Parts: sequence; structure tokens; C-alpha cells
Amino acid sequence: MAVVRSNVRIASDVYILEAEGHFAGEMGQFYMLRGWDDYPLLSRPISIHDKTEDGIRFLYRVAGYGTEKLSRLKAGDPVGLEGPFGNGFPQIEGRVALVGGGMGTAPLYYAAKRLASADAYLGFSAEAFGVEPFREAAQAVTVNVGGYIVDDFRPDGYAAVFTCGPLPMMRALAAKLDGSGIPLYVSLEKRMACGVGACLVCSCATKSGNRKVCADGPVFRAEEVELNDDFNIH
Ligand SMILES: Cc1cc2nc3c(=O)[nH]c(=O)nc-3n(C[C@H](O)[C@H](O)[C@H](O)COP(=O)(O)OP(=O)(O)OC[C@H]3O[C@@H](n4cnc5c(N)ncnc54)[C@H](O)[C@@H]3O)c2cc1C
Ligand code: FES
Repeated sequence: MAVVRSNVRIASDVYILEAEGHFAGEMGQFYMLRGWDDYPLLSRPISIHDKTEDGIRFLYRVAGYGTEKLSRLKAGDPVGLEGPFGNGFPQIEGRVALVGGGMGTAPLYYAAKRLASADAYLGFSAEAFGVEPFREAAQAVTVNVGGYIVDDFRPDGYAAVFTCGPLPMMRALAAKLDGSGIPLYVSLEKRMACGVGACLVCSCATKSGNRKVCADGPVFRAEEVELNDDFNIH
């Protein structure tokens, strides 16, 4: 059990929760969070948004019962944090493009901090949030509100592209990179129960057979998975 240092609303229904302590974890990994005792039964998976020597931050949107409970936590309250889980994004030599849509921008901030050279492309349907910290961590930041961030993205010169966000955005990005030879890493979401590869709730079909998004992912090479409606849980 960890202790909440702060839990601040930064946009409509969007919060940053910071817990005190030294936590393990790499870019693209996630924790299972729990801000309640018995109900709901399952903890909720949330990506590492940022990590410092003495704290860890999670950027989350209130989507339902569990995240609404998280949003009510106050400084000093206990919060259950299990993790880090998942494989995370790979370390890449060279310039990386980070392309995120909405809450999909959450794991990309820590990636911007961890990579030697990264440009951020951040798309939002109506209201931008969490953009300012990227201006410190990334070389260049492109923001699109109300349009299509993939339209603003030029693939030239990148060693790799990391993406997280709505399926149509990730599909459009995969189509744009098709034939370019630039590897695309997608961070996928499925409903999760155990978070550690034991229950199979998060299974998905890949070219190398069924894989578990929690333990084999959430990051996959785009050509390994079919970006189908299986991942459309928003
Ligand atoms: C690996 C991983 C990392 C994630 N990182 C973040 C993050 O950094 N920030 C963030 O805001 N959210 C993140 N999510 C999504 C988050 O886990 C869900 O929004 C949350 O579990 C919903 O719980 P709830 O009780 O509030 O909503 P519920 O009442 O359970 O459901 C409400 C709505 O949320 C949708 N939902 C349920 N589970 C998921 C899920 N696993 N992924 C997406 N939508 C879901 C449901 O379809 C429904 O529309 C992540 C999910 C995964 C799998
Ligand atoms: S959530 Fe249980 S195997 Fe992935």
C-alpha cells in the first residue's frame, strides 16, 4: 500500500495522482491501482505517466466506477499499487516519434523523458491536457485539437515510432508508415483482471499465436497484431 501525495484535476474528468515512494518501472509499463477495499473486486490498470526519485504519477480519466473512486482520493490516503507490469517500450538509439491520442498520451510522457531524442505528436478531440511538460522532455511538440494528429505527422528521419490512443488513430498511423521500414510500436488496451498473465482475460490474437496484453504487451510491434475492434473498449 502506498500513500497519495496529491490527486489533482487537470481537465474535465482528467486527474494526475501522485503516490509517495521509490517505485520501479519503465516507459510503457503499468501498475494495477486500487483506491478502495472490497468493491469493485478488480484493481484498474493505469500506465506510468511519470516517475521521480520519490514519487510516481498516473494520468487518468474518470471512465467508470473504479476511476471515479480513484478521483476521490486525497493527500495522505492509502492507495493500492501493484506493479510494474507489462513489457514497456524498447530503448531505441536515434530519434523517436511519440504519437498519442487523448488518454493515450499518458504513457508517452515518461517515454519522452527516458529517450535520448523524441518528438511528441499529441492529439485531442476537444480539450488538450498534460501538454506543457512535454515541451521540456521532447525536442519538438505538435498539438492538434479537434483534428487528426496523424495528418500532422511526417515520418522522415525517425528510428522508431511509439503510439498509444484510439484505434482509428493507430490504424491511420500504421497505414502511413507502411513500407517506410520504420518500426511502429503500439501500446494496446484490453480489459484486465489479474494483470500478471494468470487469468487469460486479456488474450489477443497475434501472428505468433495468442498472447496476453498484460504480460506479453501492452506494447507490440504493429505488424504482429491486427488492430481490430478487439481493442475498441472505449
Ligand atoms: C495497460 C493499460 C494501461 C492503461 N493506462 C491508462 C492510463 O494511463 N490512463 C487512463 O485513464 N486509463 C488507462 N487505462 C484504461 C483504464 O484501465 C480504464 O479506463 C479503467 O480500468 C476503467 O475502470 P472503471 O472502473 O473506471 O470503469 P468501468 O466501470 O470498468 O468501465 C467504464 C468504461 O471504461 C472502459 N474500460 C474498462 N476497462 C478498460 C481498459 N482496460 N482500457 C480501456 N477502457 C476500459 C469500459 O469499456 C467502459 O466504457 C489503461 C488500460 C490498460 C489495459
Ligand atoms: S489480465 Fe489476467 S492474463 Fe492478462
